[in-house]
Amino acid sequence: MSGAILEMRRIAKHFGGVTAVNGATLAVGTGQIVGLIGPNGSGKSTMVNLVSGEFLPDEGEISFNSEVVTHLPSYRRARLGMARSFQLLRLFSSLSVEDNLVLANHMRMKAGFVDSVLSRKNARLEEATARTRARELLSWFDLQEFASQPVAALSIGQQRMVEIARGMMSQPSLFVLDEPAAGLSPPNVDRLIDLVRRLRDEFGISILLVEHVMRVVRDLCDHVVVLDAGQKIAEGRPEDVVNDPVVIEAYIGSGWKRRAQA
Ligand SMILES: Nc1ncnc2c1ncn2[C@@H]1O[C@H](COP(=O)(O)OP(=O)(O)O)[C@@H](O)[C@H]1O
Ligand SMILES: [Mg+2]
Repeated sequence: MSGAILEMRRIAKHFGGVTAVNGATLAVGTGQIVGLIGPNGSGKSTMVNLVSGEFLPDEGEISFNSEVVTHLPSYRRARLGMARSFQLLRLFSSLSVEDNLVLANHMRMKAGFVDSVLSRKNARLEEATARTRARELLSWFDLQEFASQPVAALSIGQQRMVEIARGMMSQPSLFVLDEPAAGLSPPNVDRLIDLVRRLRDEFGISILLVEHVMRVVRDLCDHVVVLDAGQKIAEGRPEDVVNDPVVIEAYIGSGWKRRAQA
């Protein structure tokens, strides 16, 4: 795809005897919201981990902004402009919401740690900049009233928003979301849909979205890729993909109808 910010070509990933991804190909166009769906165990989270660099593929190539990143570690990809959220939240629950955002900035900067120690002035300046940015983001996410509260005091829906806000600290150009609507109440799903759309529209961020909640996929995605047993079995517009007999067949017995109504 020309103008793609992310391209994954013929990717394979094995875990011992298990083939999690088997020759899958996927592209996210600049400014697009691309959905990645498929039954449980079809390889979606593995694909996300291959994008962000948590896993390295056994075969295939990944490029980001036309640069090959297939074997780059995750912190290097983060610096190039990738952010992600996790299926299970990874926040420091006893720290405040604001500190979680500031800390994310420190961790991203860790390669500059020696420089920071050598120049405490720079470190202080960097922290002040990070705090300002954290506060700006928390108001953008309408979370400012929770800034000084421990993350543990927030609802799951709010914690999800905090995790996405944290990812925004690095000013990413691609955000990868792994099941952001899981466990959210319907009003919070609405909020999430609105927020993800605004991330794209106001910041121009491209988004790869793994999601089981079909309302989210239908409302947000320009394009959907369907995985089954680690292979791409269909792709296209959401309304076409969900009615594709091949896709329905793949979901039979795996809770498709229940999820489709969620
Ligand atoms: N770290 C791992 N070690 C071993 N097997 C794994 C690992 N991660 C995923 N798998 C296996 O790979 C397959 C795809 O898993 P996953 O990518 O989590 O699927 P999905 O997110 O679509 O539910 C499953 O069979 C799963 O058990
Ligand atoms: Mg998963």
